[in-house]
Amino acid sequence: MIIKKSALMEWLRNNYSNISCKDRHFNMLDKVKQFVNESFGKGVNEKGSEHFEQTIYWAQQLKPDADEPILIAAYAHDIARAFRKENSEETFKNRELDDPEILKEHQEEGARIMADFLRKEGYDEGSIKRVYDMIRRHEEGGDEESDLIKDADSISYLEINAVKHIKWIDNLGKDKIKNKIDWMYNRISSDKAKELANPLYEKVLSLI
Ligand SMILES: [Fe+2]
Ligand SMILES: [Fe+2]
Repeated sequence: MIIKKSALMEWLRNNYSNISCKDRHFNMLDKVKQFVNESFGKGVNEKGSEHFEQTIYWAQQLKPDADEPILIAAYAHDIARAFRKENSEETFKNRELDDPEILKEHQEEGARIMADFLRKEGYDEGSIKRVYDMIRRHEEGGDEESDLIKDADSISYLEINAVKHIKWIDNLGKDKIKNKIDWMYNRISSDKAKELANPLYEKVLSLI
């Protein structure tokens, strides 16, 4: 039987999701992915998890030796959204998409949810603290690890999510969406991340 290489890779990816992490085995990361995907009500390889997979991808581009707590924070940084009661498009009708109060709550809630999950799973306290701190500051950064998650999140946002927000222009107005896209780009700290984000930012701006 002849199996195409692409089909084989697809099968391996579906059955061994940790293969995307440069063949290293991250058992807790697999559990986190399952938890996050189930929380968002999606199967493991559904399109909705693309932003999280790409946040891992960009974190690894920025820091090739990123260890498991970093990859966990990258994948789970937006977990709070899975438990949000309101539809996001409606929430932002009267508020900016980078509303500081909403972002603060989003970060803190996400950090707490993941720390609780990891503790229940018996992860070590040192790693739990790092994941907690990275998620708690993933929107604003402020230290090396949370800056890394913030930068990877921004690139992944420009690559994946910005197009979805552009579709909201009719409902929310162009200024609000442009402000969010600019904010996601301007908050990037590292030169390398800015370089990687530049073509994606240009492309997104051309769509507005
Ligand atoms: Fe976020
Ligand atoms: Fe995100």
